[in-house]
Amino acid sequence: MRYIIGNWKMFPKTKEEAKVLVRGAVKLARNARRSRIVVCPPMPFLGLFTGKHGKLGVGAQNAWFEDEGARTGESSPAMLASLGLTHVILGHSERRAMGETNQDIAKKAALAVKYGLTVILCVGEKTREEDAGYFYEVEQELTASLVGFPKAKGKQLIVAYEPIWAIGKNAVRPATPKDTEEMVILIRKTLVKLFGRTVGFRVPVLYGGSVDEKNSGTYIREGHADGLLIGRASVDLAKFSTIARDADRI
Ligand code: PGA
Repeated sequence: MRYIIGNWKMFPKTKEEAKVLVRGAVKLARNARRSRIVVCPPMPFLGLFTGKHGKLGVGAQNAWFEDEGARTGESSPAMLASLGLTHVILGHSERRAMGETNQDIAKKAALAVKYGLTVILCVGEKTREEDAGYFYEVEQELTASLVGFPKAKGKQLIVAYEPIWAIGKNAVRPATPKDTEEMVILIRKTLVKLFGRTVGFRVPVLYGGSVDEKNSGTYIREGHADGLLIGRASVDLAKFSTIARDADRI
């Protein structure tokens, strides 16, 4: 199974634009043969999906680590699950940059799986130094973000490798398929160490960071990623559709 996941971030501006993206994503999911399509819209647009999204997976971009409480601006996994959501992104670098720690993420992940959500856990190094310390950085981040994640819930985990230097408008460059392949192996080894071979080999490992309709296939074909986490290109329906259709054919 291949995963094509759109992280809409804080886009688009209006409900009308969001509705167009929703319709497009539902159609893509209906026609996908070998892949699972998931979209993660901003909170105000989650209601556009409820009950009528067919095969499309729908996720939130964050969740809190308690069921309810005085937490202005937050939402809990219990609430997301009760809306019929299937996924939640946790540990995105843009959230980590706002102060979220590995410990917070680990607590959020453990609670999210309890409510049946699949966690899309993001990890990735900030920069690429010559000394290859980034392998250690990613291994540490992944391990610490999964403390307390129940081995029995391995089916509810997706890991997205997102090198921070390759994300968003200020990206230095997209990662190469080789950068991706090396890190997919490292992540896979770490998952096997944490969860054992059966679970460790089953967790999908995706690539994310400046993925577009031109480079998307290379991360799957040459980088051996099990799919893609797409930011900017996921709110451009034509680009997202091309990426999803191409990935489905590989
Ligand atoms: P980008 O974002 O595709 O716009 O680089 C990826 C992400 O942050 O998930």
